[in-house]
Amino acid sequence: MKKIIVANWKMNGSSESTKKWAQDFMLLIPEVPYGVEAVACPPAPLIPLLNYLMDSSEVKLGAQDCHAKPEGAFTGETSAELLKDIGCGYVIVGHSERRTYNSESNEIVSAKASSAIKSGLIPIICIGETKEQRDRGDTIKVINQQIDESLPKEAGIGNFILAYEPVWAIGSGNLPTMDEIKQVHDAIIARVSKSIAIETSKVYVLYGGSVKADNAGEILALSNVSGVLVGGASLNGQDFCKIILSAVS
Ligand code: PGA
Repeated sequence: MKKIIVANWKMNGSSESTKKWAQDFMLLIPEVPYGVEAVACPPAPLIPLLNYLMDSSEVKLGAQDCHAKPEGAFTGETSAELLKDIGCGYVIVGHSERRTYNSESNEIVSAKASSAIKSGLIPIICIGETKEQRDRGDTIKVINQQIDESLPKEAGIGNFILAYEPVWAIGSGNLPTMDEIKQVHDAIIARVSKSIAIETSKVYVLYGGSVKADNAGEILALSNVSGVLVGGASLNGQDFCKIILSAVS
């Protein structure tokens, strides 16, 4: 199984910074190493530019969100179908920032993931507990509920990815221990495997939250971590390349 390394630029970047990112990337990693799937998720308006700039690279493109409906009167929204049409292979759904700032429920996340799968995109479905939930000892309970309610009925082998992102680890510099990551990933894999009846080895779970060039190697070495979802450290093309290279070193 390839290690999947995903850049989530969030609401950052410009056409200028995208050019620099692509230049740095192509210089450092002219060919994506064997065994790695690299995915860049810029803000939607920058996807065509990055697609053009990275045309000769094997980097895949993704978006940070999509709407649940394929088209219609939804001003300001972008459908999974259109994302597929402009060259995306992936879309992040249910990021904790969208769950918090846009009141996205598990039900909405599931509808978006369903639409992504139907459009031929791989949804990266984000789940994770808050600090309060962890302190109360509720991590696994919260995660299980998110899995049960956010996975669409279309979810099957190879058509979706989960990302475990403890909310308190995002942008904070605080990470769970490697043992804690391993334990939660084991629990996620067991739950998903049981709920949609697929082999545990076919459940792909990324870790996200304060992944940097200097800790990515250790995280990626965990056997039940299928890759990483990188926010802040993915904005710099060179740092993101270091994270990619740490998957194979
Ligand atoms: P971070 O963000 O790497 O900046 O912590 C990760 C994410 O929100 O996906």
